[in-house]
Amino acid sequence: MAQNWTPNSWRQKPIQQVPDYPDLAALSATEAQLATYPPLVFAGEARRLKSALANVSEGRGFLLQGGDCAESFAEHGADTIRDFFRAFLQMAVVLTFGAQQPVVKVGRIAGQFAKPRSSNIERQGDVELPSYRGDIINGIEFNEKARIPDPERQLMAYRQSAATLNLLRAFAMGGYANLENVHQWMLGFVKESPQAERYRKLADRISETMDFMKAIGITSENHPSLRETDFFTSHEALLLGYEQALTRVDSTSGDWYATSGHMIWIGDRTRQPDHAHIEYCRGIKNPLGLKCGPSLTGDGLIELIDLLNPQNEAGRLTLICRFGHDKVAEHLPRLIRAVEKEGRKVVWSCDPMHGNTITLNNYKTRPFERVLSEVESFFQIHRAEGTHPGGIHVEMTGNDVTECTGGARALSGADLADRYHTHCDPRLNADQALELAFLLAERMKGGRDEKRMVVNG
Ligand code: TRP
Ligand code: MN
Repeated sequence: MAQNWTPNSWRQKPIQQVPDYPDLAALSATEAQLATYPPLVFAGEARRLKSALANVSEGRGFLLQGGDCAESFAEHGADTIRDFFRAFLQMAVVLTFGAQQPVVKVGRIAGQFAKPRSSNIERQGDVELPSYRGDIINGIEFNEKARIPDPERQLMAYRQSAATLNLLRAFAMGGYANLENVHQWMLGFVKESPQAERYRKLADRISETMDFMKAIGITSENHPSLRETDFFTSHEALLLGYEQALTRVDSTSGDWYATSGHMIWIGDRTRQPDHAHIEYCRGIKNPLGLKCGPSLTGDGLIELIDLLNPQNEAGRLTLICRFGHDKVAEHLPRLIRAVEKEGRKVVWSCDPMHGNTITLNNYKTRPFERVLSEVESFFQIHRAEGTHPGGIHVEMTGNDVTECTGGARALSGADLADRYHTHCDPRLNADQALELAFLLAERMKGGRDEKRMVVNG
């Protein structure tokens, strides 16, 4: 067990991004209440995810992590969850085929409510109010009442997470995730896409494979693995009082686990080695993510790895790199070399969203070309360094929103106003998310063909 660690030892450390709760007694009462509630996930599941990620770190799998930038109370409906899952599973099938490896499926969902902000204050005209920090903390409406942090919101977030997770478990195990369904949805997407010609080749090969399996008698009736899938949840562990309240001892191992989600990550703004967020995360046994931005040095990264994964356990730590399409070539190679030199086991994942945000017509947006370009550079750099490009981390939704520009439908700056719904950062819509998966799958296949040519001379 981590030395000198308790679920509340983070409280002795400096901390960033803390909401200014006006009533601390009410906050403590809420945390005490949460601590009596059942865990949302169970330790055995977190261990299963860790071992799947261990395979990824060793080059035998690919991590797909995605979902909203911020979940919202207002948009908590079955349709939103279903549409997200539907888009996500299609991406997973396409990537499984492209990588010819298992895809580890992790949603940014059922707990992704708290947001770090660059400023404590938001100004509109002459009015200044506390910034919106996510529905678990305060309301997005720009008025004084909404912006006061309210502990009761943590109970709401817990209940919403439980309901979301319940539906996702039902979808994953109850037949909705059947590969044959997902395949049909994917064919529907290709048919409607302006890039249908381009995507059809890959889609046809998937169809042939499905037909072949059926011909030799492998169907979802006799193979449960074709109709079920493992789906895990994740979020940024930002609001540590909430995380602490859901930190529980696993009775089989005696270890501490965060039970708010299967995997939690540490943001780029809260990864100071001697601060509270690292302190909390080092003591729990879940798989962890660490966001790595341009300011992280090779030595700084090794120091963090020493704290978070001192036993060098495979699957424990995923490095979620978010540099920007024009900065990835400058920063990623030095981090890879630092990790390789020290022989540390990590999953390398690419977040092509957070380094590629621009403002256009007063909207925060992300050009699809830049998102794609960062992931492509990520793949190229790993190939050159001889390391495994282990996964992607995307902000996406299953809905037809207009938040990121570009893609096959060439969304323009003028289109952004149509359906710009995000509570925080711009997300890929369902079509853009699937396109990204198709384009990556093509590239993965290209990489394998290259290797084969080298082997066969
Ligand atoms: N169980 C396998 C997996 O999760 C195959 C599978 C079933 C699947 N349904 C799926 C794969 C939906 C991707 C998407 O990989
Ligand atoms: Mn975001």
